[in-house]
Amino acid sequence: MNIALITGSAGLIGSEAVSFFSPRFDLIIGIDNNLRQYFFGEGSSTEWNKNRLQEKFSNYRHYSPDIRDTSALEKIFTEYGADIKLILHTAAQPSHDWAAREPFTDFSVNANGTLNLLEMNRLHCPEAVFIFTSTNKVYGDTPNYLPLREGETRWEIDEAHPYYKHGIDELMSIDHTKHSLFGASKVAADILVQEYGRYFGMKTGIFRGGCLTGPNHSGAKLHGFLSYLMKCAITGDQYTVFGYKGKQVRDNIHSFDLVNMFWEFYKNPTSGEVYNAGGGRHSNCSMLEAISLCEEITGKKMNYIYTEDNRIGDHIWWISDVSKFKTHYPEWNWKYGLMDILVQIEEATVSRVAH
Ligand SMILES: NC(=O)c1ccc[n+]([C@@H]2O[C@H](COP(=O)([O-])OP(=O)(O)OC[C@H]3O[C@@H](n4cnc5c(N)ncnc54)[C@H](O)[C@@H]3O)[C@@H](O)[C@H]2O)c1
Repeated sequence: MNIALITGSAGLIGSEAVSFFSPRFDLIIGIDNNLRQYFFGEGSSTEWNKNRLQEKFSNYRHYSPDIRDTSALEKIFTEYGADIKLILHTAAQPSHDWAAREPFTDFSVNANGTLNLLEMNRLHCPEAVFIFTSTNKVYGDTPNYLPLREGETRWEIDEAHPYYKHGIDELMSIDHTKHSLFGASKVAADILVQEYGRYFGMKTGIFRGGCLTGPNHSGAKLHGFLSYLMKCAITGDQYTVFGYKGKQVRDNIHSFDLVNMFWEFYKNPTSGEVYNAGGGRHSNCSMLEAISLCEEITGKKMNYIYTEDNRIGDHIWWISDVSKFKTHYPEWNWKYGLMDILVQIEEATVSRVAH
């Protein structure tokens, strides 16, 4: 039997992975305890998504332990053992702003939780492929010291810089920089996953995401940028733009395109490899550009205010260079661009708000 075990299965990436992998595996084990609601409040509960998966996919089986609970994980891994062929680990405390509120919670979920799963992998199904959703926040605020130029609606890197063409690659240092506590707990996890590949020779892959997005994000003020922005555009709730004149640039990748990267890695895995994973030059926008696109799609003026205080650890300009992945896995390419993503988010949000 071929099993894919997905942590954070009711979240954005986890749920996309359930639908993608459901026809490709005999059984999908999902682990999610809706901690997202504890982090960000009622409006960001992922319960609706868990229910949707259970109704839609007959080979989906849901478990609700906390990934910090080693003995609960032990039970699941003992039961399914070497039938587990893929572990996709997406469960996390995902916000850099939130992490400083409860550093113990942030670190234990992101770092200890990842170690728990790696150990389960090593002890119960060492041949399984382990994929970890890391983040570009492991590079800390180093990108903010690049030679950036201010344009009318966005910051942009100097055209003469090697990052101009494709974006920032995996060779940027993750050391000597301000990460935020979230960035630091993800660095710990990122290095652990690399180490289980390099030290134990296990099939681990690390994907450092830019902005990951898509219609199934339970967008919250502190996490899920485009999804929360579109929610405000639809409901008329006030949105706050933090610093950098609203010209900060993020790249945005649809959850489907990211999960499709995981599929390529699963079919042909290596050990401890790191990839930047984002929308790259193909799909990116500044805050101001995203606001005007939301206005164009909804036909409504957005209710937003600007504050000078930027978020600690926020990037002024981030574009992921995905060339390394594309070279290793030439079959892969993006399917969705920024406009497709925003239109899908708008449609999904309208139907969720209406219910
Ligand atoms: N969304 C982004 O923009 C982004 C960017 C870079 C990296 N990432 C990373 O990608 C991964 C997935 O992000 P997402 O946007 O799908 O997040 P998400 O919050 O939508 O999904 C994560 C899920 O994990 C669950 N979870 C959290 N802690 C748990 C615990 N201790 N035990 C069991 N379940 C738990 C939550 O309830 C949630 O449903 C995370 O690791 C995140 O750090 C996300």
